[in-house]
Amino acid sequence: MVMIAPSILSADFANLKEEIEKLEKGGADFLHLDIMDGMFVPNITFGPPVIKSIRNITDIPFDVHLMIEKPERYIEDFVKAGADLITVHVESTTHLHRTVEAIKSFGIKAGVALNPATPLDSIEYVLDYLDLVLIMTVNPGFGGQKFIESTKRKIVRMKEIVKSRNLNLLIEADGGIKLDNYKDIVKCGLDIIVVGSGIFEAEDITERTKMFKYGV
Ligand code: DX5
Ligand code: ZN
Repeated sequence: MVMIAPSILSADFANLKEEIEKLEKGGADFLHLDIMDGMFVPNITFGPPVIKSIRNITDIPFDVHLMIEKPERYIEDFVKAGADLITVHVESTTHLHRTVEAIKSFGIKAGVALNPATPLDSIEYVLDYLDLVLIMTVNPGFGGQKFIESTKRKIVRMKEIVKSRNLNLLIEADGGIKLDNYKDIVKCGLDIIVVGSGIFEAEDITERTKMFKYGV
């Protein structure tokens, strides 16, 4: 069964506590927290203080997706705020292996994300050190964008690499995943799907989360 990481980017922030409770009832495995700095991506969201506040109201593991320039500057802040997994973009940090090791030095899990145009070759030499690879299936920055079909090939190839090298890492995809396409995307070899608007556009958020989780 695929794991579900709902992105709260499309949630009603004035009612975040209730929204998160609904996701938990639906069987969400992680809470996906999208951090944007207006530099790496053309949008700004929230930072460690907001994560810290949410940490007080739920025990669900936090999957923190950093879409910020030089994320190594803020790893400790996000760990202290309550991150269980921190994912950085390969395009955002010069010394990727050093950044991954910095995340793991705090005893939490480390992931690396790739934009749609970034080839898998760029992370070849850090794969042995990763807990997760996040394949972006839209260009990051906004919720509600259209899934980019060519990223399916990247998921398939990543799964082949995991199998052939017997790697102990999870493959996650993020962006444009909806009820009408998620089954085909999951079949490419995913362990976790991030879903934002595909959940929050629903009348019943709990039921919609269950559909994604138990539908495949
Ligand atoms: C995009 C973010 C995603 C986004 C997903 O930059 O990283 O996590 O919230 O939203 P949907 O599912 O609406 O594409
Ligand atoms: Zn994300």
